Amino acid sequence: MNILLLGSGGRECAIAWKLAQSPKCEQLFIAPGNAGTSAYGLNVPIKVGEFDKIGEFCLQQNIGMIVVGPEDPLVNGIYDYIKGDPRLQAIRVIGPSRAAAQLEGSKDFAKGFMTRHAIPTARYRSFNASQYDEACLFLEQLQAPYVLKADGLAAGKGVLILPTLDEARRELRAMLDGMFGAASAIVVIEEFLSGIECSVFVLTDGLHYKILPVAKDYKRIGEGDTGPNTGGMGNCSPVPFADEQFMHKVEERIVRPTIAGLRQEGLRYQGFIFLGLIRIDRDIQQYHAGDPMVIEYNVRMGDPETEVVMPRIQSDLVELLLGVADGDLDQKALEVDPRAAVTVMLVSGGYPGSYEKGKVMTGMDNPLFTQGIVSPADSARRSILFHAGTARKDDAIVTAGGRVIAVTSYGPTLSEALAQSMRGAELIQFEGKYYRRDIGRDLAL
Ligand code: AMP
Ligand code: GLY
Repeated sequence: MNILLLGSGGRECAIAWKLAQSPKCEQLFIAPGNAGTSAYGLNVPIKVGEFDKIGEFCLQQNIGMIVVGPEDPLVNGIYDYIKGDPRLQAIRVIGPSRAAAQLEGSKDFAKGFMTRHAIPTARYRSFNASQYDEACLFLEQLQAPYVLKADGLAAGKGVLILPTLDEARRELRAMLDGMFGAASAIVVIEEFLSGIECSVFVLTDGLHYKILPVAKDYKRIGEGDTGPNTGGMGNCSPVPFADEQFMHKVEERIVRPTIAGLRQEGLRYQGFIFLGLIRIDRDIQQYHAGDPMVIEYNVRMGDPETEVVMPRIQSDLVELLLGVADGDLDQKALEVDPRAAVTVMLVSGGYPGSYEKGKVMTGMDNPLFTQGIVSPADSARRSILFHAGTARKDDAIVTAGGRVIAVTSYGPTLSEALAQSMRGAELIQFEGKYYRRDIGRDLAL
């Protein structure tokens, strides 16, 4: 089968790496891809929002499956676009319908969904610009810190956590006045949850589901979780605190009601569900310290979570995705690599603020790194590179984004996987390179 993967980040590089290992994958195309994805398939110069071009390309290349990496095309209805065209509708699309993608596209929708299905989440209310005074009264009923969320997509920047009521009121005004454009025309105000976060990924065909390896994202730029938020500076998997007891609660209280709720509401969903969870450290509502609650839904894989999750999936991903699209995911096996994996993201100096692009990168051909499609035995001793923001310029590979390249390593423990990724991170050179040296260290046993 010919497969088209949409996206251009580290997530898509990791998905491409995994798809290309499947005997069921004949030709893989990545639109638009990056300098790393071209090791696994053919990059195609089409943007993820160009639905007409994507449709034409699928016809020309006899594409049997589209795997959607980022949220934008899902929220904008790529699923419905393909299924609504008689020439394209037989193509399997991995990702939710536009209506179901509202779980990520609208925080107000997601909160309403969780409330309707009794899924544990922070108490909340939503307000528009005409309800500012009412919103302030609601803020006064909450305890500091105050959590304000732009309802719509805001490139991961739409959540503000404010220490004082004064700041919360001020920022609320600014949000309602268009701080995030149309995305903050509605603002969700919610209760602050205290605890430790993890990312749980679920693959569903709309009825059955598989829970993929759990990851922990390190979002802050600085070591020890300090400084501004980024798209993600690294990840580790497994997450020791997401033990059997915790995951049992996740499955019973969150995964099952989410999938049942989607069905009940007629929301078509065949793809990845990303549950941003928190293990609360104190009792809240009817829940107890140690219980999972939902911080957010995303309708795609995480980045850089995917860079640790894909390497830990031993089963054929194409086989699993066929199960997703064909409704027989229960017939497919999910084998997970027992080893730990740690991803360290190398970023451009200045990120997440302003940074320069076009810096020549070297060191990626070191024998410590696997090259191209690999056998499991090969990856045991080496690290895997997943390109994120890279581009080819003449004969060189240059930086082309804030997050540049991910180094993923396996190890018998998180510490050993981290140590190996550190060796890899040192070998890659580009001007301004920065990375965190403590990914997974707080959890390492
Ligand atoms: P989101 O964009 O929804 O992922 O939110 C970004 C980050 O804000 C999350 O990863 C959490 O660290 C934090 N956050 C969001 N909602 C809450 C909440 N209710 N309580 C505490 N932290 C939160
Ligand atoms: N790493 C978090 C995300 O992909 O949203």
